[in-house]
Amino acid sequence: MCGIVGILGSHPVSQDLVDALRRLEYRGYDSAGIATVENGHLERRRAEGKLRNLEQRLLEDPLQGMTGIGHTRWATHGKPTESNAHPHMSDTVSVVHNGIIENFRTLREDLAGKGHVFDSDTDTEAVVHLITEELNNCDDPVQAVREAIAKLEGAFAVGIVFAGHDDLMIAARKGSPLAIGHGNEAMYLGSDAIALAPFTDEITYLEEGDMAVLRRAGAEIFDKDGLPVKRPAIRSQVSSFLVDKGNHRHFMAKEIHEQPEVISQTLSHYIDMAEGRVDYPDLGIDLSDLTRVTISACGTAYYAGLVGKYWIERFARVPVEIDVASELRYREAPLPAGGLALFVSQSGETADTLAVLRYCRAQGQRIASIVNVRTSTIARESDVVLPTLAGPEIGVASTKAFTCQLAALAGLTLLIGRARGTISPELEQELVQGLLEVPRHMAEIMADETQYEHLAHDLSKARDVLYLGRGINYPLALEGALKLKEISYIHAEGYAAGELKHGPIALIDENVPVIVVAPEDELHDKTVSNVQEVAARGGKIILISNGADDAAGCELMAHIQVPDAHPFSHPILYAVPIQLIAYHTAVFMGTDVDQPRNLAKSVTVE
Ligand code: AGP
Repeated sequence: MCGIVGILGSHPVSQDLVDALRRLEYRGYDSAGIATVENGHLERRRAEGKLRNLEQRLLEDPLQGMTGIGHTRWATHGKPTESNAHPHMSDTVSVVHNGIIENFRTLREDLAGKGHVFDSDTDTEAVVHLITEELNNCDDPVQAVREAIAKLEGAFAVGIVFAGHDDLMIAARKGSPLAIGHGNEAMYLGSDAIALAPFTDEITYLEEGDMAVLRRAGAEIFDKDGLPVKRPAIRSQVSSFLVDKGNHRHFMAKEIHEQPEVISQTLSHYIDMAEGRVDYPDLGIDLSDLTRVTISACGTAYYAGLVGKYWIERFARVPVEIDVASELRYREAPLPAGGLALFVSQSGETADTLAVLRYCRAQGQRIASIVNVRTSTIARESDVVLPTLAGPEIGVASTKAFTCQLAALAGLTLLIGRARGTISPELEQELVQGLLEVPRHMAEIMADETQYEHLAHDLSKARDVLYLGRGINYPLALEGALKLKEISYIHAEGYAAGELKHGPIALIDENVPVIVVAPEDELHDKTVSNVQEVAARGGKIILISNGADDAAGCELMAHIQVPDAHPFSHPILYAVPIQLIAYHTAVFMGTDVDQPRNLAKSVTVE
């Protein structure tokens, strides 16, 4: 993820911008830059690499403006070069951006046709020239931004300044976080409160779809419908601890809502957005002659690996064996010579997973790991590390790490499939496009959580809850059951929907809610048959699907609508409703959501 800042100050802002960017370096540090408004003109300094390189540039060639924006970059579109570093600008507009603009290629073509000249490979530059074009038409920066934002597709947060306007900064968010800081005759903008801590602790968090017009005297905020709205200013709790809950009640809620942003960042690590295909440095492993992949992990990470099994076998046509680490480490499994062993772990320190890694190493396997902590033991003992860019995950119940693990597994699937010739370039582009739409769809799901609050009231009375799913939705049923039980303490079980009639159906009565993960894929109708079996026995059904009314007339306790999406993206997208069901149920029950009883964030013992 990238970090963005902005300041309307009462003195030259360049050093303050750099200080704020330093507090955002945890979000990425491929390059950095600032732009200021000076004597009515836009001035800019950028540097590749660490922030200290930008500081050196500013020492050599200072900026004096009292209005400015800054950016520290985790490269998404285009290599981490100076020309791709933010801020991007035209003569009249400068922009810093965090997130992904999905339709940037179309916008670039259209704007180039209107004479706009691009000098970077980034999606952000399309935003610059789109606003410039609108400004040429209306000469009103606020209206120009409003018109431009309406044409953008994707999950993003932007900060914008304008030549000739030294008391104006405009911000907008759609899927990526953005906070406003209130100063004394000064206003601030940042990706989070951490960046603004040196200047103010009075923070307003923008909501989904908000646009803010900042002047030194204060901020005007407009909601997603363009209507003026008041957002509360709160006292930020940020201290030296570099992660805070933002305006969320729990870290788990914050981390659920960070998913559009961190999924974008993880996907961009595996996908060349400009080309719309997977792009990753040579893994040092010949993926074309893989005879088998062995996957091992624990808990939620294991369920991510199970999704990976379905993907790798279906699209890359490689047999996959998977087992929980605590079992695989003791059953002396024979492993094929030259096989690939893949480990999935948020912490990279889970003892069982590490033990299996060492067993597989001893069995001559090549070792790859998908981890969220690059300096972890599992990462250090792997031949290949495939990172998830989820950022620090504080809540014990894993959410954003899970979906980022899926994003990395999707990228790996495409890499193996291309190496083995089982995925055509056309199919690769189709699958990649399906993945790139996930952040936007996730933001749509999270725009309104009232139905989950209502559902929590009913679920909290349950003694047992069943989760059902077929095919690639089966791991989601398992993950949903784990999420619910580990934070609400309600017993829950995930089952393959086809297994219901082989025993678990004996549990069904009006006291047992059944949550069914059933996107409209090729197995949907078979799952609906299972819904009917449940309904016939008085079971209470909660259907999670993208269908309008696809429960074949069964009475539903709730129907959670998910946006239509490419089937390849379903496991990532459908994780959000099951996370929100668990979260709101636990909140209703008053359990310790972030630190549930008996659990730990990283299980470093057997
Ligand atoms: C996830 O919600 C749980 N807290 C737990 O199952 C976790 O996924 C498991 O302990 C594995 O941890 P790791 O990803 O750090 O290896």
